[in-house]
Amino acid sequence: MQKSHDLAPDSAQPAVRTVVVPAAGMGTRFLPATKTVPKELLPVVDTPGIELIAEEAAALGAERLAIVVAPEKQEIMRHFGEFSALRNRLMERGKDEQAEKVSRANGLIHAVAVTQDEPLGLGHAVGCAEAALDAEEDVVAVMLPDDLVLPAGVMEKMVRVREEFGGSVLCAFNVTEDEVFNYGVFDVVPADGDVAGVEVLKVRGMVEKPSKEEAPSTLVATGRYLLDRAVFDALTRITPGKGGELQLTDAIELMIQEGHPVHVVVHDGKRHDLGNPGGYIPANVDFGLRDEKYGPALYTAIKQIIADFEAEHPEVLARGEQA
Ligand code: UTP
Repeated sequence: MQKSHDLAPDSAQPAVRTVVVPAAGMGTRFLPATKTVPKELLPVVDTPGIELIAEEAAALGAERLAIVVAPEKQEIMRHFGEFSALRNRLMERGKDEQAEKVSRANGLIHAVAVTQDEPLGLGHAVGCAEAALDAEEDVVAVMLPDDLVLPAGVMEKMVRVREEFGGSVLCAFNVTEDEVFNYGVFDVVPADGDVAGVEVLKVRGMVEKPSKEEAPSTLVATGRYLLDRAVFDALTRITPGKGGELQLTDAIELMIQEGHPVHVVVHDGKRHDLGNPGGYIPANVDFGLRDEKYGPALYTAIKQIIADFEAEHPEVLARGEQA
């Protein structure tokens, strides 16, 4: 098998050929919308989260997007279709910009569907994607479509870390002590070396949703993984955890225990959790404010909405002063 170290960034093969996008979850936090619309198709301004992920995967140089879908969520794959009739109709009407938006997803990357028959967890979803990889691929990227990690480019740093240290590389995000209970928290030590321009640490283990006192650090897991192919074997050797689900972090933990090197890149930027309305709405505000077309009017509208809200709820101002 080819070693990761042989994959120089400028070699003919991209460092990562396949990006797995698990999208077969039930999206219960987004009901009732997700009764009929997969949450991965909900738009950030006008673009579905899954298209933003496809863009990130294409920028990484990947060739294939293996989208893990549930039998009832095949709509997601249609988004990557050609839509030539619609495109032609728009072109005929001089709507070139809209026509370009229609073809964009299809032109970004080759999307293939992998079916997960039942939502048996993120680990199980990733395991289903092994068949999408070619025999000689020794590494796979996993990107969660409900996690926007900004600015883009963190996966490129993770590739450089794997070139230096081998093994698998995860992405960590620094939160406050009061937020750790929501996340998988990394137990880290300094790495035995460095990579220019990247904050990298070695992972000893992970603690799921710890209390502030139990948390080994304030570095939490995000939805970006660069995993050695060995993860597929580890996934067959773990047992289901909470809710009968196979957890990806359990497979990574097993690999660490068996001596597989795992490092984290500490992300220097921000993230948006599109998986629930509380994270999805701020993501839309953030992207909307930066949008050339909608930004200026949105800025005025939001200021007015906040002013009206504060007038109706003076207690929020008092709370703000206390904070
Ligand atoms: P989440 O737990 O955030 O997604 O999984 P969910 O299960 O759809 O959300 P809720 O809790 O019911 O609201 C993270 C990612 O893993 C995928 C999800 O689609 C999401 O992109 N996933 C999760 C699968 O593909 N299969 C699963 O069995 C579970």
